[in-house]
Amino acid sequence: MPTVTSDEYRDLIGRFASGVTVVTTLCEGIPYGTTASSLTSVSLTPPLLLVCMNRSSATGRAIAASRHFAVNVLAEHQAELSHHFARQGSTFDGHPFRPGDRGAPVLPDALATFECRVTDEVVAGTHVVIVGEVERAGGRAGLPLAYFRGRFGRLSVSNISTD
Ligand SMILES: Cc1cc2nc3c(=O)[nH]c(=O)nc-3n(C[C@H](O)[C@H](O)[C@H](O)COP(=O)(O)O)c2cc1C
Repeated sequence: MPTVTSDEYRDLIGRFASGVTVVTTLCEGIPYGTTASSLTSVSLTPPLLLVCMNRSSATGRAIAASRHFAVNVLAEHQAELSHHFARQGSTFDGHPFRPGDRGAPVLPDALATFECRVTDEVVAGTHVVIVGEVERAGGRAGLPLAYFRGRFGRLSVSNISTD
């Protein structure tokens, strides 16, 4: 039996600082997006990444159907986007985007965007681990929006290029 309660686990795992992304897809002509911090790089060759989507996420279900998605890594000035897309069923109204190669919304000003096709899905507890092969990627200079212990902030860096 686990000796860690869910509250303890949430508190402790929240000490693992991360960036923030908006994961998007296009399914049956409808754009979906959700805030996600679960991005992990899996492999360089081939280029694979994963995101963990709650099984209750409308975006996660749309990705399961469309078989493709985009991950937009947010820059430090994009906290409002992370709040917006953390609301269930949030739309892109008033939030400009361009469609990626397979239609998944690509957000302007994102630090990096990865357009992926789904290669694997693994159900794990409340979530689905979605592995994607990166088909197209792009980025711009800047610093990331950071997430730590439930709060958004800025990464403090020294002697580092922001290119
Ligand atoms: C900083 C942050 C990170 C999050 N990371 C994830 C994540 O990795 N996976 C996930 O399923 N939900 C994550 N969420 C919660 C979703 O954004 C939230 O449940 C959203 O309402 C789902 O919307 P949807 O049902 O329209 O897809 C995160 C929320 C925040 C604020």
